Amino acid sequence: MNSTLADRLLPWFATARRDLPWRKEPRDPYRVWVSEVMLQQTRVEVVVPYYRRFLRRFPTLRALAAAPLDDVLALWSGLGYYARARNLHRAARACGGALPSTSAELRALPGFGPYTAAAVASLAFGEDVALVDGNVTRVLARAFAIPGDAKAMAWKIARDLLPAGRAGQFNEALMELGAMICTPRAPDCPHCPIRPICRGKDDPASFPAARKRPVRPLLEWRALALTRGDGAVLLARRPAEALFGGLWDLPVERPEGIRILGRVSSLGVVEQTLTHREVRVTLQTARASGTPKSPDVRWVVPGGIVALGVSSLARKSLRRAGVST
Ligand code: ADE
Repeated sequence: MNSTLADRLLPWFATARRDLPWRKEPRDPYRVWVSEVMLQQTRVEVVVPYYRRFLRRFPTLRALAAAPLDDVLALWSGLGYYARARNLHRAARACGGALPSTSAELRALPGFGPYTAAAVASLAFGEDVALVDGNVTRVLARAFAIPGDAKAMAWKIARDLLPAGRAGQFNEALMELGAMICTPRAPDCPHCPIRPICRGKDDPASFPAARKRPVRPLLEWRALALTRGDGAVLLARRPAEALFGGLWDLPVERPEGIRILGRVSSLGVVEQTLTHREVRVTLQTARASGTPKSPDVRWVVPGGIVALGVSSLARKSLRRAGVST
């Protein structure tokens, strides 16, 4: 009964850990980093095929730094939260050949918050530094029956519990417990290795306390699916600072240099729910021709879309317009 949380957790993790592509030893810091960035806000099953494709195309930090942003966004297409990809690319260019090896130095790179810096430093470089993500917050909120908003307390507890010299394993084990056993709904308490010391086991649903979800603002957009006689569709790059910045999308209005031929007809409305917003796109289509004036507007032939970064929302609109993606 006196054994610590780490004493119970680590032996469990040694046998229960999933064999994931980024867990091959010895850990490659670059691979750890890519996986940790992809895993933010995204489930493991979704990440695995994206991770494999990404590593095939960009096997090293140098390969990523040398690639055009468009190629990085193309491989990120459908994964969402595209700022992650833009920051990954910027950080690869900023760190010149190798990732720094301490969480303090990592924090200075684009896209590295306290979580990512601690994950890379502990998992890849063995630094004794704690981390908290959504899974860890839930595990610790339950284990210690933390009332209210558990995040700040979870960070403090994670630091207190960290076993010296084994931070990487401990951090990953806590996340694994949250993913495999201490799940948001229907946690598998009977099989939990820390059950004997868990203060929330009789009422796991109460921890962490539910946060009030703010209502998502509704964004009402317009888009034009302009197609050419040969089946090409006109795409425009979204401004860097916009939502889906840097990705390719249907234009909002007729771009300069383009002539609309004949009637513009309605394709109805396409909707997508994002974490913080609801987007509703009113879609129209027409035949068109001409040469766009801006380099950020292009005719893309069928089959050419795979090479571009395109959001899931834009893909929905393209399918609605009869363009294969
Ligand atoms: N979620 C984010 N990173 C993880 C990791 N290294 N192991 C398990 N779940 C994770």
